[in-house]
Amino acid sequence: MIEFRLNGNPQALDVDPTRPLLEVLRDDLGLRSVREGCGIGMCGACTVLIDDRAISSCLTLAGQVQGRQILTVEGLAGEGRLHPVQQAFLDHAAFQCAFCTPGFILATLALLKEEPTPDEATIKTHLAGNLCRCGSYRNILEGVRAAAEGQVLVEGGAQ
Ligand code: FES
Ligand code: FES
Repeated sequence: MIEFRLNGNPQALDVDPTRPLLEVLRDDLGLRSVREGCGIGMCGACTVLIDDRAISSCLTLAGQVQGRQILTVEGLAGEGRLHPVQQAFLDHAAFQCAFCTPGFILATLALLKEEPTPDEATIKTHLAGNLCRCGSYRNILEGVRAAAEGQVLVEGGAQ
C-alpha cells in the first residue's frame, strides 16, 4: 500500500510500486492534466509537484511518493476562481493546443516558490525542461512574468 497526499487529500493505493507515477495518476486516478508526451523525461508534459518541486512523473516510480505531497493542476483552482498562475496564463494567451500548459503552470509554481521575482534568464533556465510544440514561448514568458508581478487580470482590471 502506497500512502501519500494528492491535491491536499490523503490517498492509499494498492499498486505495484515500480509502475510509473504518470501511469498511476492518469490511469488509476483519472488525472488527465498530467500529460504523457515523450515518456523519457525530455518534454515536461508530465510535470507534477512533489513536495513543491517540479518532477517528471514519467521518470518517478509510484513507490517513490510514499509519504509525499503531490500537486497536479486539478488541485489548483478553488471556489470558482482560477489559481493566479492559471489566470496569468489565460490573460496572456500562453498556449495554443494547451497540451504543455499543465506542466508549464506547475513548473512556474515551483519557480515562484523558490524565486518570487525571477528575471527573464532565470525563468528561461527554470522552464528549459518544458517544451511547447506550438511554440508559444513568448506568451508563456509573459504569463510567467505577469504571475510573478501579481498582474493577474480579472474582468478587465488588474488586481
Ligand atoms: S512525458 Fe515525462 S518528460 Fe515527457
Ligand atoms: S500550446 Fe501546444 S504544445 Fe504548448
